[in-house]
Amino acid sequence: MNKKKLLIATGGGDCPGLNAVIRGIYKRAKKAKEWEIYGSKEAFNGVWSDPPFIIPLTRSKVAGIHVKGGTILKTTNKADPLYYPVKDEFGNIRFIDKTKDLAERIKELGFDAVINIGGDGSQRISKALHDHGLPIVGVPKTIDNDLAGTDMTFGFQTAVQIATDGFDKLVTTAESHHRVMIMEVMGRDAGWIALHTAIAGGAEICLIPEIPYDINKLVKRIEARYEKGRGFVNIVIAEGAKPKDGTLVFRDGESGSRHVKLGGVAYELSSQLKEAGVRAEIRETVLGHVQRGGTPSAFDRVLASAFGVKAFEMVLEGDFGKMAAFINNDFVAVPLENATKENKVVDPKGYLVHAAKGLGISFGN
Ligand code: F6P
Repeated sequence: MNKKKLLIATGGGDCPGLNAVIRGIYKRAKKAKEWEIYGSKEAFNGVWSDPPFIIPLTRSKVAGIHVKGGTILKTTNKADPLYYPVKDEFGNIRFIDKTKDLAERIKELGFDAVINIGGDGSQRISKALHDHGLPIVGVPKTIDNDLAGTDMTFGFQTAVQIATDGFDKLVTTAESHHRVMIMEVMGRDAGWIALHTAIAGGAEICLIPEIPYDINKLVKRIEARYEKGRGFVNIVIAEGAKPKDGTLVFRDGESGSRHVKLGGVAYELSSQLKEAGVRAEIRETVLGHVQRGGTPSAFDRVLASAFGVKAFEMVLEGDFGKMAAFINNDFVAVPLENATKENKVVDPKGYLVHAAKGLGISFGN
């Protein structure tokens, strides 16, 4: 019997749990028997390369990988097929949509279905490939937890745990030196990692992109805490946070572009606080990519493994053009449009912000 061929790709930034999804797909597929599973290296770059850089996934390749961070298939957040960089006749770079060619190339290579594991950018690619007739299923990945259409993405819980461990360490040093400690976490335009970390760690101040802050209110809050004799302050700031009437801090890229590199807002906040009159010593920590590294938490291993099984079962059922999602404690299939229309950000009026305020955390607004 001719077996059917499934291609897996991991795209965008890496994230703890990617390998657990790959293993989940493989294990469920083996029970179905009539499928062979392949992986494209570095997202869909493996499909473009000549010869294709596509590897058969075997039992020995996936054994035990659910505990490992990163992705055995490697990944990239460049060479997006929706904005593929090409040189024109004058040597200038311009961007073209190559998704139709990509869909055709995958079909030419004999694949019957694709599972694309990735965040919002990757699921936009999944949607375009499906529109060009490719049978595809998405799996939601990102430490930022900002993908719509699912209550949670895998990788997020691990990132929050790493950030909380970092925060706990900064509390003892802040206390010893009577300092203001600012810890910057990732999350792009969403404050999920910051908000969860602030509640888990017990921060005094939490600054997120969804709630622009007033520097004078922060100063008052910090001074009051010293006056009350607590003698130290711990702040969590999301990399995309900004003051009221202020601008986004970024390290590289063009403001407003999809590829702007965030990072460094902790230093900006530190200067603003000093200028506005905070007398205590201030130190800054930018947690960076440690939030994406290492082994996935038990929770993320469960989430990612179950996503893998669900995604393969969607392939078996021919439920294409959809993403595996975790909604109300259940694993379901949702249309890719639900995931790609807009990002899921923190609701300033939602229960978690309300709970944080109830715990005395200030958002500086
Ligand atoms: O989307 C995940 C994420 O880690 C963001 O939180 C962060 O802004 C970005 O990726 C960093 O991207 P890179 O790995 O390209 O620096």
